[in-house]
Amino acid sequence: FHQSSTNPPHRIERIMTFVESAPTASVDRTIRLITTGKSSASTCNTDLAAAPWDFDARPGYGPGASMGDVIPTNAPRQGSLPAEYRDASPEELDRRIRAVKASMGDRLVMLGHFYQRNEVVQYADYVGDSFQLANAAKAHPEAEAIVFCGVHFMAETADLLSGPEQAVILPNLAAGCSMADMANIDQVEECWEALEAQFGPLDQPGPDGRVPVIPVTYMNSSAALKGFCGRHGGIVCTSSNAETVLKWAFERGERVLFFPDQHLGRNTAKAMGVPLEQMPMWNPNKPLGGNDGKTLDDSRVILWHGFCSVHKRFTVEQIERARAEFPGVRVIVHPECPMPVVDAADEYGSTEYIRNAIDTAPDGSIFAVGTEINMVQRLAAQYPQHTIFCLDDVVCPCSTMYRIHPGYLAWVLESLASPSTGPDAARVLNRITVSADVAEPARLALERMLAARPPVAGGGGTVAS
Ligand code: 13P
Ligand code: SF4
Repeated sequence: FHQSSTNPPHRIERIMTFVESAPTASVDRTIRLITTGKSSASTCNTDLAAAPWDFDARPGYGPGASMGDVIPTNAPRQGSLPAEYRDASPEELDRRIRAVKASMGDRLVMLGHFYQRNEVVQYADYVGDSFQLANAAKAHPEAEAIVFCGVHFMAETADLLSGPEQAVILPNLAAGCSMADMANIDQVEECWEALEAQFGPLDQPGPDGRVPVIPVTYMNSSAALKGFCGRHGGIVCTSSNAETVLKWAFERGERVLFFPDQHLGRNTAKAMGVPLEQMPMWNPNKPLGGNDGKTLDDSRVILWHGFCSVHKRFTVEQIERARAEFPGVRVIVHPECPMPVVDAADEYGSTEYIRNAIDTAPDGSIFAVGTEINMVQRLAAQYPQHTIFCLDDVVCPCSTMYRIHPGYLAWVLESLASPSTGPDAARVLNRITVSADVAEPARLALERMLAARPPVAGGGGTVAS
């Protein structure tokens, strides 16, 4: 794969990003090349080249796609990482992480989301989408510790699905999710009260046996919201089973309250034939969510006003450009992208859907992918028989996924592997525990999802023309 002098300048740039990153597939390395002037590509924030611990003392999500989002004041903070981990070289951290993994054996399971940096993913026993990792957590009752290289809601879910003796550990507590933070339990309770005032008792079925509203929360939400769904006859979904879950909900309710991601809700319901006029948005800062009573009465899906800042970056113009530059390109996007982007793509689906589509494509395929850059660069390196690039030219990882770094990993792991007695006794650092009152109904909502069975290979599908 080489550059051609007849390529337009922006095409050369895209090819260069692909070629430079291919040997290591490392977004860290790409960002270093950009910030040292060795690559002409661009990044959304040069602070991304700094160590993640530089941001632990500062408010905000850190550099990356969510840096403009408002972080709740009570969002978990990461305390300062001991100097020995901050100062250790990559080789030293690698040696120490591998030593703990070898000494703990099956007592430790490490899970890594597709969006994690490669420097972390290399240690994971399982790499997958949020649904697959939830199942992996459930499938390892023998492990004393589950180290979750992902974000806070994923670690909470692993805690809900694993045994009470098992410790789930999030290496950096600041690895939250700005979208998950866009709906909190007080706002959802208030919304529910307003809907009750509108529709009458929400737990009483009408003549057709269905209740007025079924709450559906995306996996990207706090355990408190999953608990809310469990208490109110609702369910959890992921991007790999959203359609299956919405069908489940429509069998039981006249309409769905879907939070926090408006885009996943809208894209999924639209593909199921729900008209856009029957999908009003619920803005938690406005009376009746900013709607009138008639709109709510006619609604089928009430969409919470949340979004993912990583997927909001993708545009129809990027798709048009990719099609012009690479005739025959297959455009695949994640369903957290806005609806016009999903409509302009060829296919959409969860991260596992995207991986599987690339894995099963004939050699020489060209893919323009609309999802997080760490995953796209890794796929480009893993499948050199294809041409794979990110729809967005600007390198801009998920701010919170990027807070996990080998330094934090070595810190939590070495603490776990310390002797069982004495002053250096093992300490479980950064354990994520869901309180019992929330855990019981949250587990119920998750079990409903697991029983609803997702389609194979990460859900999603082709976009109807
Ligand atoms: P997946 O369920 O596809 O892994 O997505 C999780 C996520 O956070 C996407 O932004
Ligand atoms: Fe949250 Fe978006 Fe990051 Fe996924 S990519 S963890 S939805 S902010």
